[in-house]
Amino acid sequence: MGAFIELDRVEKVFDVRKRTGFLKREVRRVRAVDSISFTVARGEMVGYIGPNGAGKSTTIKMLTGILTPSGGRLRVAGIDPSRERMRLAHRIGVVFGQRTTLWWDLPLIDSYRLMHRMYRIPDARYRENLDRLVELLGLGALLDVPVRQLSLGQRMRGDIAAALLHDPEVLYLDEPTIGLDVVSKARVREFLRELNAERGTTVLLTTHDLQDIEQLCSRVMVIDHGRLVYDGALAGLHEAGGGERTLVVDLARELPPIEAGPTARVVKVDGPRQWLAFPASESAAPLVARIAAEYPLVDLSVREPDIEAVIAKMLSSMGDASVPAPGRETVVPGAQSS
Ligand SMILES: Nc1ncnc2c1ncn2[C@@H]1O[C@H](COP(=O)(O)OP(=O)(O)OP(=O)(O)O)[C@@H](O)[C@H]1O
Ligand SMILES: [Mg+2]
Repeated sequence: MGAFIELDRVEKVFDVRKRTGFLKREVRRVRAVDSISFTVARGEMVGYIGPNGAGKSTTIKMLTGILTPSGGRLRVAGIDPSRERMRLAHRIGVVFGQRTTLWWDLPLIDSYRLMHRMYRIPDARYRENLDRLVELLGLGALLDVPVRQLSLGQRMRGDIAAALLHDPEVLYLDEPTIGLDVVSKARVREFLRELNAERGTTVLLTTHDLQDIEQLCSRVMVIDHGRLVYDGALAGLHEAGGGERTLVVDLARELPPIEAGPTARVVKVDGPRQWLAFPASESAAPLVARIAAEYPLVDLSVREPDIEAVIAKMLSSMGDASVPAPGRETVVPGAQSS
């Protein structure tokens, strides 16, 4: 007990037919998810990250019951998603940033009315949830607008509200901030933080934006080539990846490279601007203080490494042992057709 989401050596294999020549075809077997095990406790907010094609969306689709695992055991709230997809649907909410669950040609409010009926949400609860979500996500002026006329950020907020009308215990978010501007991203993050804190909603979040994870998730799981390669705190991920952040400083004038102590080094100089790399696990404060004391500092900013860079570094520092050779795409013997 205790685990709300439970995966035990879950696999998903796709057979993809590929044309390899005139009248020649080959079946390639893609191991999109390769023996993944993890558990998520009720109320946790977990980041699920990894490079393109790593298997994140495939995992989420299995957790909703859209896809059936090829192997292993999977439970959400004690339910086997692919066998009891409808029963599970009442307890989970899903947002796929890349596509909408809303009715394209209908005003936003009509989609919500349809969901009210589809999920058989009691009237009072529906009204209460709708009012709350409209307020928190700033949807008031948008309810009568057809979904196709909404901007990406407006539509995403509309989708998040749709996923929560029926009070799901867990929310899967597959890139909910993709393509959003800084203000909309901040708004979505703020909302998710409140949802998790006030309602105890369990959240599984997939994103390519490291700031989503930094601001929301105390735990992060990294998947690469269908395998779970890291599960722990974000700080630990930086350490495992030997990640570095960059301090960008503007000096009053052009000067030789700053001497900033043992852990920081200048990686670029352009006129009065200098870039210093320092370990991501360290605070920037002492470094800034040292520079400010000895140099004519005008302005500064800290740049985070992007997720792909951190993961790439982590994978290379682990060596190739973790990556199954010759890769998970294999030609299925005897499956050639002509
Ligand atoms: N329906 C499908 N049929 C065949 N192959 C698929 C199918 N869905 C996914 N794949 C393959 O499975 C692998 C994992 O895909 P998935 O969409 O889960 O990646 P992802 O981690 O979500 O990547 P991204 O960051 O690009 O969204 C990829 O190699 C992809 O081509
Ligand atoms: Mg994806």
